[in-house]
Amino acid sequence: MAERLSALDAPFELNYCTRSRRQAAFLERISQSPYAQHVHLNLDDEAPQQRLHLQDLLGRADPGVHVYNGGPRGFMDAVLFTARSNGWPEGQLHCEFFSATPVKLATDGSFTVQLASSGRVIRVGPNESLVQALGAQGVQVPTSCEQGVCGTCLTRVLEGEPDHRDMYLTQQEQAANDQYLPCCSRAKTERLVLDL
Ligand code: FES
Repeated sequence: MAERLSALDAPFELNYCTRSRRQAAFLERISQSPYAQHVHLNLDDEAPQQRLHLQDLLGRADPGVHVYNGGPRGFMDAVLFTARSNGWPEGQLHCEFFSATPVKLATDGSFTVQLASSGRVIRVGPNESLVQALGAQGVQVPTSCEQGVCGTCLTRVLEGEPDHRDMYLTQQEQAANDQYLPCCSRAKTERLVLDL
């Protein structure tokens, strides 16, 4: 993202937080890049004044700024909490999770999906994901992470209410209930009609 923004000559700053220089990836590449002056390195084991202070960074919502947030879950929660506490709109907050909280399929009920293109109805059992149920019936949905973080399996929902379990869509996008990540999400209604 930094390289692309730099190539477009778009204004940005990159706050890179890590425990120590020794554990930081890409430092040489960043220091030699044309955007090096836009990078703030925040190291846990160096002077306190160079560490990231989220309240200073996100204390005032700016309508022209978007926040892209990636890292371990606790770090990302802290960024989101600070931003939301300071009135940043959800549409300006973007997350890239490294992994998802595992979904306990065994405790979830079954439901059915109907494929809009053919009218076929497929039952999803409590111990399988929708992608697995579709695959067992010869319906392949492109996937990558299978954890609801990458967005590869994004599918349009035409009827029914999804039970969103992903970490890819924003809260606003989930509330619209018109798209869905079938690798991890389930259904609140007995039937979903999908654009498949
Ligand atoms: S495969 Fe990554 S979100 Fe579904």
